[in-house]
Amino acid sequence: MKTAIYPGSFDPIHNGHLDVIGRAAKLCDRVVVAVAVNHAKTSLFSMEERVALIRAASAHIPGVEVKAFEGLLVDFFRAERADAVIRGLRAVSDFEYEFQMALVNRSLDEDLETLFLMPSQKHIYLSSRIVKEVAALGGDIERFVPEVVREALRK
Ligand code: PNS
Repeated sequence: MKTAIYPGSFDPIHNGHLDVIGRAAKLCDRVVVAVAVNHAKTSLFSMEERVALIRAASAHIPGVEVKAFEGLLVDFFRAERADAVIRGLRAVSDFEYEFQMALVNRSLDEDLETLFLMPSQKHIYLSSRIVKEVAALGGDIERFVPEVVREALRK
């Protein structure tokens, strides 16, 4: 039974994240979407809201669990007895940060392997920050996020 951890801030989840979750679920038996508590970042949605939105948006994908985690990813990875960490890679601009994170994590635990999955081209430009900005300025975000998130952003 293969378990993958898909960590992130997910503030909020968007269609690019969902695309990556779907791809990971085809490769692994269990995909744990790990929502990070980050005291350095101010989030629009609370941890409870982010978890609830991901659960609602990913309910149709088999093998997906959603959990909050605090502290080091490597500790959560070990606690979940996971086989790999999944990260989405959109463009070259993502690479440096992702490369650094993957190597730091592997230096903390030699068994922590990071797998990069590319979302569909349809979602390659999406980020939670852009989605929030478009929503705040009254733009149409229908193509960018699942319905539950659109409703939450509207509120
Ligand atoms: O969606 P994000 O904000 O790019 O996700 C970043 C995240 C949460 C995956 C990363 O910040 C993380 O793993 N935080 C946990 C703390 C940690 O383990 N830091 C050391 C490795 S960089």
